Amino acid sequence: MPEVVALGRKPDVRACASCHRTEGTGGPENSSLAGLNADYFKQQIADFKSGARKFSGPQRSAVVLMTAAAKAMTDAEVQAAAEYFAVLKPKHIIKVVESDTVPMTYIARLFFVKRPEGGTEPLGQRIVEMPDDVAQFELRDPRSQFTAYVPPGSIAKGEFLAKTGGDGRSVQCSLCHGPDLKGNGLIPRIAGRSPTYLMRQLYDFQHGVRTGSTSALMTPTVEKLSIDDMIAVAAYVGSLDP
Ligand code: HEC
Ligand code: HEC
Repeated sequence: MPEVVALGRKPDVRACASCHRTEGTGGPENSSLAGLNADYFKQQIADFKSGARKFSGPQRSAVVLMTAAAKAMTDAEVQAAAEYFAVLKPKHIIKVVESDTVPMTYIARLFFVKRPEGGTEPLGQRIVEMPDDVAQFELRDPRSQFTAYVPPGSIAKGEFLAKTGGDGRSVQCSLCHGPDLKGNGLIPRIAGRSPTYLMRQLYDFQHGVRTGSTSALMTPTVEKLSIDDMIAVAAYVGSLDP
């Protein structure tokens, strides 16, 4: 594991593994990195650095720290991290569950956690994703499992949009992301990644917050989608084998 991933470099480059985990599994509040194409990876760091890739909710501490790290990284550190994460095999760690109700949660730092006292509440039009064992996730165990609750009917609706483009509402994802949505060169793998992360990216492309050199290719896919459509697409893509 390169030093930048394991330890980072003071003061601004935090250890990548502290957020993205040693095996690049990540969490809903950041991003899984396992198996990302190295050229795509380097492009994203360059985009964070130049400000072409920003975030909805720019005040979130995780994205503030990510941007600071990107700005401070040397080319050699970026190269080492990109090569390290590119060869890791993505794991199937997320279960997508359709449900009208969801366990009662609270927000621990940056993600949802099930309330120990139990109870349920209506899900509504949301994705609520949480670690199954919060202590294990907080200990940064890359074997941590997650459950993402999505509204009933989301997966089938998302499958229709993703596979057919939904009568011109969107574009077939496989045209660019590869037949199993496992990526194709500079176009990243999306199958089996956190539905929360996927949703945030679709939203950010739609709102012109992610404007990297190839981001415009995503515009026809997202520009006509409603929030509910994006939830459905994220639910379907997140449910696939990574
Ligand atoms: C404080 C937590 C944190 C640390 C430390 C961190 N990141 Fe990130 N990283 C994030 C967040 C948050 C995102 C973006 C999530 C989003 O867009 O919503 C991200 C996104 C990324 C992406 C984009 C992934 C994609 O699929 O487009 C790359 C690449 C990345 N990080 C690399 C790194 C590297 C390399 C390091 C170590 C030098 C690092 N990160 C350290 C929080 C972190
Ligand atoms: C015309 C080509 C094209 C099509 C069609 C397309 N994408 Fe993309 N997608 C891209 C490119 C290029 C990127 C990388 C953009 C960047 O680097 O900013 C991307 C990035 C993404 C990301 C961000 C991934 C990450 O690691 O941050 C998500 C999520 C995504 N696409 C989802 C989809 C979904 C879902 C569909 C189908 C409904 C779709 N895309 C259809 C080209 C496409």
